[in-house]
Amino acid sequence: MIAVSDITKSYGAGGNRNQVLKGISLQIADGDLTVILGASGSGKSTFLNVISGLERPDSGSVLYGTSDITKLSDGELTQFRRDNIGFIFQQYYLLPNMTVEKNVRMGADLADNREYAEIITAVGLEDRSSKYPSELSGGEQQRVSVARALAKKPKVLFLDEPTGALDEQTGRQVLDYICKLHKEYAFTIVMVTHNQNIAEMANTVVKINSGKISEVLQTKSKRPLMR
Ligand SMILES: Nc1ncnc2c1ncn2[C@@H]1O[C@H](COP(=O)(O)OP(=O)(O)O)[C@@H](O)[C@H]1O
Ligand SMILES: [Mg+2]
Repeated sequence: MIAVSDITKSYGAGGNRNQVLKGISLQIADGDLTVILGASGSGKSTFLNVISGLERPDSGSVLYGTSDITKLSDGELTQFRRDNIGFIFQQYYLLPNMTVEKNVRMGADLADNREYAEIITAVGLEDRSSKYPSELSGGEQQRVSVARALAKKPKVLFLDEPTGALDEQTGRQVLDYICKLHKEYAFTIVMVTHNQNIAEMANTVVKINSGKISEVLQTKSKRPLMR
C-alpha cells in the first residue's frame, strides 16, 4: 500500500509563488492500476514525481508500507527508487548508441535480473533486439522503454503521459502491452494522462483539478482496450 497524506508543493517564492499541490491525500493498493486524470497544468506530473520520490513535497507524507520516503536522505531515496520503482515518460530516453537488447539489459542489470530476453518478447520486440532506437517507430521505442523499466522488476511502475508522443492507434497498442504485463507480473501501476479514454483501463481513476483531488472512482470490471 502506498499512502499519500496531505501533500503540498509550491514553486517560486514571494509574489511568484505558485502552489501546485494543495493538500492531496490518496491510498493506492498493491497491484492496483491507478490512472490520474486531469487537464494540462493541474499538477499531475508534480504529484507523480512526489509519490515516486523524484521530488520532495513541502509538507505531507508518502508511505510505502510503514516507511515514509519523504524522511529518507538523498542517497537513501536514490537507492529506494533503484530497488522499487520503474519510470516511463512521454519521451523514451533510450540510449541511441545501444541496441534494443542493450537498452533493456541496462534496466535488468540494475536489479541483477537476467531475464531481460523474456521481457523483450513480452512487448513483442524479439525480432528487433539487435536494432538501434533510430531504426524503430515511436511505438516500438516506447515499448523498449516499457521493457527497460520492467526488466528490473519494479514493485511500482509510474508512467507520465506514456502515449503523449504517439498517434491514437499506436498509443493503444503500447497501453495494451502495459495491460498485458500488469496481468502477468504482480506490480502496481500509477499512470498520469489527460486522455479520458485511457482511464478505461484503470481499476481506480483519480481526477485532479488545480492541485486537488476532485473525484476518486473505483471501477471493478476492467475493459480490455483492444479485442
Ligand atoms: N520545476 C518547476 N518549476 C516551476 N514551476 C513548475 C515546475 N514544475 C511544474 N511547475 C508548474 O506547476 C504547475 C503544474 O505542473 P505539472 O505538475 O507539470 O502539471 P501537469 O502535469 O498536470 O500538466 C504548472 O503551472 C507548472 O508551470
Ligand atoms: Mg505533466
